[in-house]
Amino acid sequence: MAYIAKTLDLKDGQPLSLKGWVHRLRKLGDKVFIVLRNENGIIQAVSSENNISGDLGVESSIEVSGDIKKDERAPGGFELQNAVVKVVGESAPDWPFHRYKSTEMEMDNRHLWLRSTSMQSVLKVKQTVLQGAREWLTKEGFWEIHPPIFVSSACEGGSTLFEVPYFGDKAFLSQSGQLYAEAFLPSLGKVWALTPSFRAEKSRTRRHVTEYWHLEPEAAFVKHEENLKIQEKLLKHIIRKVLDERQDVMEDFGDRSELDSWVSEDWPRITYDEATGMLEKKFKVRRGDDIGVQEELFLTEKFDIPVFVTHYPRGIKSFYMKVDESNPKVVLNDDLLMPHVGEVVGGSEREWKTELLLENMKLAKLNPDDYRWYLDLRKYGSVPHSGFGLGVERFLVSLLKLDHIRDAIAFPRFINRVYP
Ligand code: 4AD
Ligand code: MG
Repeated sequence: MAYIAKTLDLKDGQPLSLKGWVHRLRKLGDKVFIVLRNENGIIQAVSSENNISGDLGVESSIEVSGDIKKDERAPGGFELQNAVVKVVGESAPDWPFHRYKSTEMEMDNRHLWLRSTSMQSVLKVKQTVLQGAREWLTKEGFWEIHPPIFVSSACEGGSTLFEVPYFGDKAFLSQSGQLYAEAFLPSLGKVWALTPSFRAEKSRTRRHVTEYWHLEPEAAFVKHEENLKIQEKLLKHIIRKVLDERQDVMEDFGDRSELDSWVSEDWPRITYDEATGMLEKKFKVRRGDDIGVQEELFLTEKFDIPVFVTHYPRGIKSFYMKVDESNPKVVLNDDLLMPHVGEVVGGSEREWKTELLLENMKLAKLNPDDYRWYLDLRKYGSVPHSGFGLGVERFLVSLLKLDHIRDAIAFPRFINRVYP
């Protein structure tokens, strides 16, 4: 967790006023120990009953003035002594996290649980991750675009599509901005979008939510091989930035020293065939089957570092993926598997020729009429192009070794939860 004294680089003896909330409260004789929390972290303030005006309780908002004193025993190494405390907003005595905590409680009281230092730390890392992405993509000449969320056709198959009434007609919530990102290429060349994506996922796992943040770069004149390089460079830049700039909160997540090798070593690449070969002994996978969560985790444990699995069978992947001309049974795609969670990125070279795309649509039982505008993109000056989608919360699960994707998102949505 972050410490205010460190964040603000406080000096011994300096007078200081702070605004924040009572994170913890303890009375000992005449002394009152307050752990104050605000956006910069926490600090312990020491006051006495007669220096406190108002009804002080856990989570009341306060203004505090005092003197900063170095004290090795205090959390963060500094304390605010002789504190004069003014209560700004009182807090009811039934603060839900007083007595015990459970996952259900944290979920029911998510609006309050955001105040926990663990949530605060995750939220800060999340911002640094997205800053790092924006930084790298901008430097590399990618333009930020804004695809729509209400869409008229599926990107990733009908089974996880949310349908919404739309003025007497129907629309869907976007599963991915990719198809629209492709439309921007003849205008901007290299683009990326950060959007919420929606999946009507029936699966209850530690890595599925129904609404997540999706970061999707797409680039013209980029083929499979370069697409993999872009993924690796982007993610390494992000991880490096988090290690450099978020030391204040990274220690909350235990020993993350493995991240050093994630940024310094080359990420291995294996084909789907090699992957199923490795899995066959332990799991009942046959060539042609999709690779499941447990199998992905097994592979990441074998490698201990992010690993690209490429060239999946055509039949189990999306219609827009380009078939490999040297082996038409497979597509030019990759799933990037990361330790502790498995698939974090799905990417591919896109089919850019009308005839072949129509053939893929037919195999996938899609109606070309629903994709007229997408087919137009092939009609007028089509080029080889590639892109990928990063699940931001999945990435955080891996980076911070979180137990569950709910820990990476402020207000997670599942089949059975849209409250609060
Ligand atoms: O592999 P997916 O389905 O790929 C696409 O949507 C492509 N159109 C992206 C592209 O090429 N622009 O999804 C991409 C990533 C997954 O690897 C995963 O990290 C995340 O999105 N994701 C989910 N994250 C949380 N909960 C879910 N239900 C998710 N479904 C996908
Ligand atoms: Mg995928």
